[in-house]
Amino acid sequence: MDFALSKEQLMIQQMVREFAQNEIEPIVAEYEAEGRFPEEIIKRLGEIGILGMTVPKELGGGGCDTVSYTLAIEEISRACASTGIAVSVNNSLACFPLLTFGTDEQKAEFLTPIANGSSLGAFGLTEPSAGSDAAMQQTVAVKDGDDYVINGIKHFITNATVAEVYIVFAMEDKSKGTRGITTFILKKGDPGFTFGTIEDKLGIRASIQAELVFENCRIPASRMLGQSGKGFKIAMMTLDVGRIGVASQALGIAQASLDRSIQFANEREQFGKPIGRLGAIQEAVANMATDIEAARMLVRYAAWCKDSGKPFSKEAAMAKLFASEMAMASATKAIQIHGGYGYIKDYPVERYFRDAKITEIYEGTSEIQRLVIALNVLSGK
Ligand code: CAA
Repeated sequence: MDFALSKEQLMIQQMVREFAQNEIEPIVAEYEAEGRFPEEIIKRLGEIGILGMTVPKELGGGGCDTVSYTLAIEEISRACASTGIAVSVNNSLACFPLLTFGTDEQKAEFLTPIANGSSLGAFGLTEPSAGSDAAMQQTVAVKDGDDYVINGIKHFITNATVAEVYIVFAMEDKSKGTRGITTFILKKGDPGFTFGTIEDKLGIRASIQAELVFENCRIPASRMLGQSGKGFKIAMMTLDVGRIGVASQALGIAQASLDRSIQFANEREQFGKPIGRLGAIQEAVANMATDIEAARMLVRYAAWCKDSGKPFSKEAAMAKLFASEMAMASATKAIQIHGGYGYIKDYPVERYFRDAKITEIYEGTSEIQRLVIALNVLSGK
């Protein structure tokens, strides 16, 4: 058993850590306060190969493994969870299905631009009536000659208005249930495709979640991704990958919570000494550090399973469940360690607390992760 990162993985970790510290950390508070999408940062991350990390180099990607991808998302999210999710969604929810199910033509037209950083991708599965119950798709796709006509609304879609390429799921044949759902590739500017509400949120305020609205949106049949009726499987397989990304994002938020807690505990004096010399604070910091390391093992293991060609659905769900709940607990502890200072906006831990919460919700709530894990273990997997 080898827990060591390879030379290449260490290089990527170091490069992204430095980028996050030097380029993201100084501006994050301002962008979060203004709810401004970090367009320039995303562009720079594209230039250094972080937007399509596991896409082969010849298709415009970074040619890295999934473990490297987790390292990058952790480091980015340690500085800014909003940037972390924008990058994670592009890599996992947009690049992965195009790479895995796309034709050569689709890869050239849609994957390469979002992998090389020229533009961004998004994933349109969630609807007002289809959240945890993703099979309840109300968006419909009707074949009309050589075209498909799409009608419906997707909501809470990360990167919605800033993306150019969209992986969209629609019901083609309701009588077939999940086997009636098909995946399509949409482009910004397709006739009948517009944006609706842009959400005002508790956390990850510099990221964008908005509605995709399809009104008689006509696209050529060549935009179907994978086969007709295989959309639900594509969505589930894609979310397995996405959950490794969200788990890495949660890990970054938790690590940032610990970083700031250590700094504060060493500087803040009460009862004539730094509070880090008090047993209660030591216990909190020790538990945070241990839980973060446990989450890191689960995240890297899930990524390693994927890289090794092993099943990783259960492992991704475990990593996401544990890392997200751990991030929420770590951010809560960080505020407690900071006392009153933790509750005001002068210190970043209140942001970590607000950002951590979403990791327990999107790309499958903690309840859905437990369901996925339970179904796997009960069937002996
Ligand atoms: N890989 C491959 N196939 C899978 C699969 C997986 N991980 N999970 C299920 N399937 C297949 C099943 O084998 C089954 O196939 P057959 O038809 O051949 O039998 C089919 O899919 C249907 O499976 P289920 O009967 O288990 O489906 P279900 O309706 O009971 O749903 C669920 C299962 C796990 C609850 C699923 O609905 C789910 O994951 N829900 C949560 C959705 C979610 O994560 N949404 C987040 C959206 S993205 C987002 O958050 C926005 C963003 O921008 C960040």
